[in-house]
Amino acid sequence: MSVIALLNLDVHFSAALRLSKGVAKGLHGGDVTLGEGALTSSAPHLPASLRRFIEVVPKAELHVHVEGALEPELMLALAARNGLPPPYPSVEAARAAYHFTDLQSFLDLYYFGCSVLRTQLDFYDLAMSYFRRAAADRVVHAEVFFDPQTHLANGLDWSVFMPGLARAAEDAAVELGLSAAYIMCFRKEMSAASANDTLSGALPWLGRGRIIGVGLDSSELGNPPAKFAQVFERAGRLGLQRVAHAGEEGPPEYVWEALRVLHVRRVDHGVHSLEDAALMAALNASRVPLTVCPLSNLKLKVYEGQLEKRLTQLVGSGLVITVNSDDAAYFGGYAVANYNYLAQVTGMGVTQVARLAANSFEASFFVGPGSGGEARRTALLGQVAALAARALEEEEKQETAEKRRWRR
Ligand code: ADE
Ligand code: ZN
Repeated sequence: MSVIALLNLDVHFSAALRLSKGVAKGLHGGDVTLGEGALTSSAPHLPASLRRFIEVVPKAELHVHVEGALEPELMLALAARNGLPPPYPSVEAARAAYHFTDLQSFLDLYYFGCSVLRTQLDFYDLAMSYFRRAAADRVVHAEVFFDPQTHLANGLDWSVFMPGLARAAEDAAVELGLSAAYIMCFRKEMSAASANDTLSGALPWLGRGRIIGVGLDSSELGNPPAKFAQVFERAGRLGLQRVAHAGEEGPPEYVWEALRVLHVRRVDHGVHSLEDAALMAALNASRVPLTVCPLSNLKLKVYEGQLEKRLTQLVGSGLVITVNSDDAAYFGGYAVANYNYLAQVTGMGVTQVARLAANSFEASFFVGPGSGGEARRTALLGQVAALAARALEEEEKQETAEKRRWRR
């Protein structure tokens, strides 16, 4: 099936999603209301053919914080290697502590975890452990966030974290066939002057550090995007891509500001855009993607009691939605686990999953050394379309065989 043919399937997309949501019990063999306890990366509620498709379809990951991929095992090993007191008594104790009531309760532990990162090798090991895990989920391209202000505040210099991250991106391409680049995030609760100083500090690393863009992350409420208008304008003049977390916990107005004042090319999370029909229409018309992180939204309770309905609306909205892991070590899963959870709660099938995987490549920047550029985007979109066509054929064959059995 060609890319065009696959995209034409979109015409039926919303209707298919509504339908499949309606019969979600029959389709995926279980209640679609899934509490945290029902989550497993093996996703027993999904048909085996869909699970297989989710595993094998190539994907880009566009919303992942490298620091959020610090698994407790590695956190404790790095603390020991650096002669630091262990942040938690055991791996189990760390995991047991990962229960969050909101974004801030998570950020407190996330920044605490970052304190074990001290050397070039630590940053290399952290990024490589993410790339290996992502490649196992068929992530073939990643545009990865990191938080320079956190490491600078911990007394580290750019010459510590940047070479480790850059070398890992180079090795990921060679060892895993995964193209990777970095987006440095400014922390929203910190000052605009600090963000500007951080951008100045990054200047020597823009070429050799595989940094392709700037983003905004951390505490959202009370920190509207417009605070960073000047530094984003400067980043734009430097030729950097611009993205921002907005509408994760904050209101639709923050998403409007990210679009109109910061001129972002993607909105990270953006789930609260659903509350503003004009904003949804503007996102649809501009094709500005939302990088959605289902398990993060679940664990941080951003739409308590309504998340499944909201995710279903987003997936059926016609917007450029992508699926991402955000902080996989804290939220219980990498790319495949996020697709599985989304498939479970929305009842989506192969066509919709293929659309999301294709969106991830449409929304990628594919700029900078090793990205492969437009040729790689086109090739990956072709792979998604071919795999989807094969999976749909398989499903059809199985359905026909099933019907024959019933007629006998
Ligand atoms: N930093 C790491 N994860 C984040 C998230 N989900 N929101 C804001 N800042 C973050
Ligand atoms: Zn994030």
